[in-house]
Amino acid sequence: MGEKITLSIIKADVGGWVGHSAVHPEMHEKAEEHAAKAKKAGLVIDYFVGHCGDDHAFILTHKRGIEDKEIHKFTWDAFKDMTDLAHNLGLYGAGQDILSDAFSGNLRGMGPGYAEMVFEERQSEPIIVFLADKTEPGAWNMPLYKMFCDPFNTAGLVIDANMYQGFNLQVDDLVEAKKIIFDTPSEVYQLLAFIGAPGRFVIKHVFDKRTGELAAVTSTQRLSFIAGKYVGKDDPVMAVRCQSGLPAVGEVLNPFAFPHLVAGWMRGSHHGPLMPVSMTQDHPTRFDGPPRVVALGFQLKDGRLIGPRDMFADVSYDRARQIANEMADYLKAHGPFEPHRLPLDDMEYTTLPVVMESLGDRWVADETGDKAKESGKHI
Ligand code: F6R
Ligand code: MG
Ligand code: MG
Repeated sequence: MGEKITLSIIKADVGGWVGHSAVHPEMHEKAEEHAAKAKKAGLVIDYFVGHCGDDHAFILTHKRGIEDKEIHKFTWDAFKDMTDLAHNLGLYGAGQDILSDAFSGNLRGMGPGYAEMVFEERQSEPIIVFLADKTEPGAWNMPLYKMFCDPFNTAGLVIDANMYQGFNLQVDDLVEAKKIIFDTPSEVYQLLAFIGAPGRFVIKHVFDKRTGELAAVTSTQRLSFIAGKYVGKDDPVMAVRCQSGLPAVGEVLNPFAFPHLVAGWMRGSHHGPLMPVSMTQDHPTRFDGPPRVVALGFQLKDGRLIGPRDMFADVSYDRARQIANEMADYLKAHGPFEPHRLPLDDMEYTTLPVVMESLGDRWVADETGDKAKESGKHI
């Protein structure tokens, strides 16, 4: 057994090229510069700068624990610097996820999203880092459930005695700011009652019961809740440790062969299929979508990130992409109608309430409606 390593994935959209479709190469270079400096200074052991759509993600290893001031500060400074460059290049939505002027200790509530975990590096430590664009943190609920709780996905739950005990899953309630831990498999039905509503209930942590250590972590920030209005989607990230009593790499990736429906497409206001793509295909251009996910595979060695392997750059995901395109056609044909458009409650943080308000005075009492209510009858 090795020593404790922290894996931090810290992401933000600080300017898109073109529109909200991709990151600009010069922005990427700037991010690399900052990360290289942090490595040279000994702050991080290793790094990889990833991207998905218009979001950049710092994938970092270090020994400083989660929510470390210096780690968060260096990424904050990098995002600020990248924002200046975005302004200079006239990129779209420059500084979009920078919601505060001053850094105060860590990134909580500041705009950037992050997922971090501390663990003892095993002799061989395969990890998959997922980055998504045009969706929200609850998008990970269904894939995580399948990885850690569903024997139809994860054969190890049935044929590996090391997995019989199941996993503990922490669910966060993003509206009430509460959390709960479900013990699976005994509580999978209760778990599903909540995580089936991914706009509010999000799987934050998966714990390995054998060690009490984290097996998976997601980012749970909802920018709309932080800012009180639509400021771009929350484009989540996730890290999953694999193998040896945890789901195998293939069991971790397989859930994405089904491009499930997620919220966040076009103006953060539509449902669309989550399409698994390679790093060369992470540019959502059709109706600003459909939502994308990339999977970066690493082996960790003494904190060094040996990788990435571009895991969805594989023919076995071609069909998922084809299905996602067909689903996109089908949903798009609904235009502004639900369920392509999100339900009204979820539109609360978008620009729609302004439209509704502008027509407020023209909504007058409907006598027939009132009478029906009094008599308790439906018309
Ligand atoms: C951004 C996104 C986009 C934008 C849309 C309108 O992540 O999902 O669909 O919401 O392009 O953007 P604005 O309002 O910035 O012109
Ligand atoms: Mg953007
Ligand atoms: Mg984005």
